[in-house]
Amino acid sequence: MTRKVTKAIFPVAGLGTRFLPATKSVPKEIMTLVDRPLVQYAIDEARAAGIKEFIFVTSRGKGALEDYFDHNLTLEQELRKKGKDELLETLESTNMESGAIAYIRQHRALGLGHAVWCARRLIANEPFAVMLPDDVIAAEQPCLQQMVEAYEETGGNMVAAMEVPPEKASSYGVLDVAQDMGSVVSVKGMVEKPKQEEAPSNLAVIGRYILAPSVLRNLSRMKSGAGGEIQLTDAIAEDIGSDNPVYGYRFRGQRFDCGSKAGFLQATVAFALARDDLRDDLSSYLQQVLQSAQAAQ
Ligand code: G1P
Repeated sequence: MTRKVTKAIFPVAGLGTRFLPATKSVPKEIMTLVDRPLVQYAIDEARAAGIKEFIFVTSRGKGALEDYFDHNLTLEQELRKKGKDELLETLESTNMESGAIAYIRQHRALGLGHAVWCARRLIANEPFAVMLPDDVIAAEQPCLQQMVEAYEETGGNMVAAMEVPPEKASSYGVLDVAQDMGSVVSVKGMVEKPKQEEAPSNLAVIGRYILAPSVLRNLSRMKSGAGGEIQLTDAIAEDIGSDNPVYGYRFRGQRFDCGSKAGFLQATVAFALARDDLRDDLSSYLQQVLQSAQAAQ
């Protein structure tokens, strides 16, 4: 039997330079997809998967992110007084239980693996999840919940995986597949950001992980990898062939790369079109835009 996964690490120390000037004062994770901060999507997904403790690995300038998780009692009282029940419910749904969130500083930007390692003292000898909030996944069943169900069968380490066009593989961690069982694949190698001609497959790692504590021990060796950074991919790969095998999980859902502007805009449109209050207005606007673009050709 696998142990229950109740803790998740959210590495959010990145500078978000791709979104300058916005990120001069606003942490990227607080930027909104429609009306919810990016990080709220990851939190909701984690909660649905049974996560009870949320560990944020932050850096200088992320104060607004910490404030976001405070209860805003004045606002709640005001909404209650005015009978704005729906808004109150929206607000309350973002409240976190006292003590459920911890913040750890990554003092130097030494890579994703190092960021995860910074949280090691908050993870005892137990499996844990890692979620990269830049990867937003729209799915009928939340992605991490799908993975937890699969993980209960496999144990070991599990990474979310998705087929990408071969010319894009060099932007990801890439899996070398030992056995393809459909939604689950067993992995015999992992390469972080391989050159296109050296990629072992086009099955890429997406930012959802369920990891064994052995990965934290692997990280403590501080080996630097692609780009001179301490890579999470390498530390997971070290577990291949151990008692904690590595599996890829092809999730059902659509992933948006909200670390890029195009991905952020696509996610904004997709999430807005999924909303009853916005769908009609937005889709007629989009149709107009397309029609006038066609007419201009
Ligand atoms: C990180 C991981 C990479 C993974 C990717 C998914 O890379 O290092 O293995 O494929 O997230 O989004 P980053 O995008 O932070 O460079």
